[in-house]
Amino acid sequence: MRKPLIAGNWKLHKTLSEAKELAGSLAANLSDVTEVDVVIAPVFTALTSVAEVIQSSPLKLAAQNCYPVETGAFTGEVSPALLKDAGCEYVIIGHSERRQLLDETDHFINLKLIKALEAGLKPILCIGETLQERETDQMLEVLTTQIKGGLANLSATHMAEVVIAYEPVWAIGTGKTASAEQAQEAHSFIRGLLQGLFTKEVALATRILYGGSVKPNNVDGLMAMDDIDGALVGGASLKADDFIRLVRFEK
Ligand code: 13P
Repeated sequence: MRKPLIAGNWKLHKTLSEAKELAGSLAANLSDVTEVDVVIAPVFTALTSVAEVIQSSPLKLAAQNCYPVETGAFTGEVSPALLKDAGCEYVIIGHSERRQLLDETDHFINLKLIKALEAGLKPILCIGETLQERETDQMLEVLTTQIKGGLANLSATHMAEVVIAYEPVWAIGTGKTASAEQAQEAHSFIRGLLQGLFTKEVALATRILYGGSVKPNNVDGLMAMDDIDGALVGGASLKADDFIRLVRFEK
């Protein structure tokens, strides 16, 4: 069965001391959690400090991005190997903010995914349609392209380490959550794509998270859906109480 995963994407928030404080509060309050994987993704500059704070807790560390080369003349970039060295277990790849603001393509995202896997990191691949794409009936086509492009050249064995996050762009930071039924429909479609690309076993084993305005008041309904295996959370991951409530979703 798929173990639920609740991940906090802190985006460009928190100074070093704020990051350590939030991580400390989460570590103290979630020390008993064993049935849910809990992941937090601070900014690069806070990774090593947060790694120390959560060291003896069940929390795992993620980076928000990586560059698909190990070392070399790539000013300003950070490689998967260095993220692993800094204490990361996961890395978020292909977030819609990067696709939109930095023109990241499915091909580039795929290279990152492959390099992350080679470095021993677990990639969280983000996909999702814009409002315009949904309203013009292109949602399924967009999800298909993003899944096929993002997961190109991966084997079924690789897929054991990969997490997918369905984040409809229109629901991110807007307070407009996809209804549990809308999210379930997309997740079920994505699982079908995984079956076609890999095997039924891979499709059944891969965790698919929902992201987009997940809050304490809607998490339980989302998590009750068959194909929703967790959440990738922005805003509500910045407050300890809210994030703790998300991790302790009610079945
Ligand atoms: P919000 O939870 O703030 O909508 O952000 C979702 C997201 O983009 C997580 O990666």
